[in-house]
Amino acid sequence: MTKKLFIKTYGCQMNVYDSDRMASLLARHGYGRVERAEEADLVILNTCHIREKAAEKVYSELGRLRQMRDARREQGQDLTIGVAGCVAQAEGDAMIERASFVDLVVGPQAYHRLPEMLHRRARREGTVLDTDFPAESKFDLLPEDVEPGQPVSAFLTVQEGCDKFCTFCVVPYTRGAETSRPAKDVMAEAKRLVAAGVREITLLGQNVNAYHGDGPDGKVWSLARLLWSLAEIDGLERLRYTTSHPRDMADDLIDAHANLSSLMPFLHLPVQSGSDGVLKAMNRQHDAESYLRLVDKLRAARPDLALSSDFIVGFPGESDDDFEATMNLVERVGFAQAFSFKYSARPGTPASNQRKQVRDAVKGERLARLQELLERQSSEFNQRMLGRRMPILLERAGRHPGQLVGKSPYLQAVHVEAEGADIGDLLEVDIVAHHAHSLAGRLIQTKPTDPAKIDQSSSRLERRA
Ligand code: 5AD
Ligand code: SF4
Repeated sequence: MTKKLFIKTYGCQMNVYDSDRMASLLARHGYGRVERAEEADLVILNTCHIREKAAEKVYSELGRLRQMRDARREQGQDLTIGVAGCVAQAEGDAMIERASFVDLVVGPQAYHRLPEMLHRRARREGTVLDTDFPAESKFDLLPEDVEPGQPVSAFLTVQEGCDKFCTFCVVPYTRGAETSRPAKDVMAEAKRLVAAGVREITLLGQNVNAYHGDGPDGKVWSLARLLWSLAEIDGLERLRYTTSHPRDMADDLIDAHANLSSLMPFLHLPVQSGSDGVLKAMNRQHDAESYLRLVDKLRAARPDLALSSDFIVGFPGESDDDFEATMNLVERVGFAQAFSFKYSARPGTPASNQRKQVRDAVKGERLARLQELLERQSSEFNQRMLGRRMPILLERAGRHPGQLVGKSPYLQAVHVEAEGADIGDLLEVDIVAHHAHSLAGRLIQTKPTDPAKIDQSSSRLERRA
């Protein structure tokens, strides 16, 4: 009998990728993936520790799972409960104290050991914990199977960890030091994804543009070098990467934005704040001016590049003037999309000990003002798409019959009446309407007659944009 696995994923795209890898590993051990905890024999929460709210959600979900298990046990059935990801890594023993009923606690670098942990758990009572940073790389030990039913657009982790030590951030502690996967492993995984129907790959890393993997030629490859090689894979139409640090935006990467047509004109480039004082206290290693110069350079290379960013408001010591500097920077750059958060003190990080914490009410006011401005910019950005013709990669069924939802080069969702077209097609679409968070388009062709021709026309259109 196959056992059933449910994984709930919190946090970033790297966790989405890890959840898929855990699922393909456990598939080898007889687990089929299901969509609901109620159907599962094994539930894994793949958790995020980045802000307090994210971490607290995990404990309330664990409370619900415990009740579910108690109810099952009354009927002679059981449920195994596991916690993976960054909360598992950061809290480890503390988690076992707070939720001793959890069966497995496994960190992001140790989940290739899950089958063995399940085995150990079956043989004895108590939580099995593994939050090692093992000498071996999980990537070398995970099965190479690509999960069936791959979406058209897939993630591929190429780099993990961070050596930057921003003073607010838990990532250097939960994900460890920066490491890059060898280029040949990345290439092989990309080829497997493409063979399974993937048309767009987003390369992932906490600091993806710091990628420096061993190349098959004996040299160290940069992210740009890797992208150029990936672009040669037949059938791989689009490339993206996230998340980047402004300090690592090397010239060869900027050049790839100018010259590599399958690299999409969208870049997530977190700035966090527009105040030099705050940026210094955050240990960001850039100031507002150098960020603006970088944006100019990127836009000179790729005039239609759409930018997105992350912001933290209410960092310890942030004054009204500091916050105005952030608003100012946003006005000057113009973002297509953004994520903004109230500063959340994370245990063990340097900023959490600072005395000048900002009151929550002040954080709330600043966040509301910033989000209003960012929303306006993103809505104006969507509005500017009206009347434009652009290649759309059709990714999934829409709500209405005959409707498909695809993605624009700028990461916008585009709804199209797509009679005759299929998921996975990359087709020219006229944008006919814009909504708050999506666009509507009309297909001007139903099938790519000649893929080579489409490629050329799409890059020409993007360039003109
Ligand atoms: N408080 C609030 N936001 C944070 N982020 C990271 N750490 C914190 C924190 N302690 C935000 C940053 C980062 C994004 C992933 O989460 O903006 O870029
Ligand atoms: Fe959360 Fe960051 Fe860990 Fe991703 S890497 S799960 S965002 S703490």
